[in-house]
Amino acid sequence: MEKTIFITGGAGFIGSHVVRLFVTKYPNYRIVNLDALTYAGNLENLRDIENSNNYIFEKINILDAEGLAKLFQHYQPDGIIHLAAESHVDRSILSPLDFVYTNVIGTVNLLNAAKESWKDNFEGKRFYHVSTDEVYGALGETGFFTEETKYDPHSPYSASKASSDHFVRAYGDTYGLPVVISNCSNNYGPNHFPEKLIPLFINNIIEKKPLPVYGDGLYTRDWLFVKDHAIAIDLVYHKGANHSTYNIGGFNEWKNIDLVKLLCQQMDKKLGNEPGTSDKLITYIKDRPGHDRRYAIDASRINKELGWKPSVTFEEGLQQTIDWYFENQEWLRHVTSGEYQHYYANQYEN
Ligand code: NAD
Ligand code: TYD
Repeated sequence: MEKTIFITGGAGFIGSHVVRLFVTKYPNYRIVNLDALTYAGNLENLRDIENSNNYIFEKINILDAEGLAKLFQHYQPDGIIHLAAESHVDRSILSPLDFVYTNVIGTVNLLNAAKESWKDNFEGKRFYHVSTDEVYGALGETGFFTEETKYDPHSPYSASKASSDHFVRAYGDTYGLPVVISNCSNNYGPNHFPEKLIPLFINNIIEKKPLPVYGDGLYTRDWLFVKDHAIAIDLVYHKGANHSTYNIGGFNEWKNIDLVKLLCQQMDKKLGNEPGTSDKLITYIKDRPGHDRRYAIDASRINKELGWKPSVTFEEGLQQTIDWYFENQEWLRHVTSGEYQHYYANQYEN
């Protein structure tokens, strides 16, 4: 094998798409997926590639510094793509410390493990931290987040990601660790855990349950198809400059209520419903505390420097997503019933 790359959080939503892309595109790379398999980690996401000879799964919590040191010693990775995190804002409001542990301390553990393992000889090495646009805070009606926008996080989730970004940059500045960071807008697509807006609402429409829209529904997000994010991650990993940041976004802003109405329309078609049927499920509920009004990414740097741009329109991506959830109802059933959590035991422990 030409190279060994650790991908953390590879059993999660975005991580599984990154693992698949790397395992299939780079048969000469040994890809090691490091994941604790929290509620958000699901090895069923990787069933199609789990037997590839360049893929290895290691169940590990990134809070386990000793365990990480052993894995670094054993595999001697050339690079790390770090996606493992607690990722849901609403959970961070209920349980902020979980986010401090995994997102901050877990990231520092990985930085330490890489620094120790590479023994300050960083030639050909890379530590890539995957982060979010939420670190920049909230925008008004106009403007975009650029790589120079000042950090201003508002939720415990975004505060923990901002902190981890600062640690990554600090290890770059202090120890010369070859770090790179990307900050991406909201992702959507196959394998998205049905607690986030789009998969939750797809599932609720199928089950004819209310669609809980927070506040006035006029909050704006910039949506990117997850496979386009994975492609951007591949480019940043291979071609991004050390000690740099790349903003990644869809150039695709939607107010929540407009997105929900488009989703209802596409779902009604798919289900053979009368137009307007699913709209009746829309229910406005109490707002999320600290809710950021608008996110929008200026992704011109990654476009100019690395030639990246999104490959699908939102309508296409959303249709592909809906089709995937219909074709993978078993996946959805396993996730909503919690059955997927037995997969590891069945697959690896028998
Ligand atoms: P996810 O919640 O779907 O997956 C997270 C993965 O990390 C899971 O497989 C989980 O088991 C694993 N994990 C969690 N805690 C761990 C720990 N302590 N040790 C080891 N593994 C652990 O998240 P996602 O949506 O795929 O996001 C992946 C990364 O991308 C995160 O860092 C997130 O901040 C970032 N990001 C997400 C989005 C988005 O829209 N989802 C946008 C921009 C950036
Ligand atoms: P979410 O998918 O949780 O992503 P994030 O908070 O990281 O942007 O939410 C996207 C938007 O949808 C956000 O403005 C909150 C809103 N939302 C609802 O209105 N209802 C819901 O049930 C959820 C989960 C989100």
